[in-house]
Amino acid sequence: MERLQKVIAQSGITSRRKAEQLIVDGKVLVNGKKITELGTKVDPNHDKIIVEGVPLEKEEPVYYLLYKPTGVISSVNDEHNRKVVTDFIETDKRIFPVGRLDYDTSGLILLTNDGDFANLLMHPKHKVVKTYIAKVEGIPLRESLKKLERGVMLEDGKTAPAQVKVKRSDKKKGTSIVEISIHEGRNRQVRRMFDAIGHPVVKLKREQYGFLHLKGLNAGEYRELKPHEIKQLRELVVT
Ligand code: URA
Repeated sequence: MERLQKVIAQSGITSRRKAEQLIVDGKVLVNGKKITELGTKVDPNHDKIIVEGVPLEKEEPVYYLLYKPTGVISSVNDEHNRKVVTDFIETDKRIFPVGRLDYDTSGLILLTNDGDFANLLMHPKHKVVKTYIAKVEGIPLRESLKKLERGVMLEDGKTAPAQVKVKRSDKKKGTSIVEISIHEGRNRQVRRMFDAIGHPVVKLKREQYGFLHLKGLNAGEYRELKPHEIKQLRELVVT
């Protein structure tokens, strides 16, 4: 037996939070009876669940790792018809991205139809470390990088400690390549952090998400996660 909101989220039609709202709003029937109690347990294989008049089909969960190119929206559709991350993946499942990368950021992004799994990974308390390679303007002083390591004050508060390493600097062009690892996921966080120390980002790529990396993929390519990787990601966030 599992909680009703979890079963709805796992079907891929919506997030756990929205499923809870649908239940509270009286939009969910279980075996013909309206259920508005959030803790209600159901048997996903035998109970007949209807959400907003549509019977719930349990979709087999799928998990993908995409090397998102720049110029792509981290969404399932775009009102201006720009390319979205789901355009790159061949599937008939209702997948969506786990979190987001900016339109102008490339790199590793996960996609799934498993709403619970996505929520688990995105929850701020779980601290999945994400590593970015940033090309920045100028050659940051050690003291400036220390500020990033300790945390810098942004409009939405001080950032948590980060790990920062200069990979190389090009004195002629006046640019540097910096690797930065953070576990928060605020909007445009890396760009804002480098703005805060006076070294705006020119180019940004997410190279790692937890233990996952982009090796073997070119921009626009994807692969399915392996069962042991899915297990390891779950372990990463529950421990
Ligand atoms: N930080 C950013 O500034 N942009 C991203 O896309 C991800 C992290």
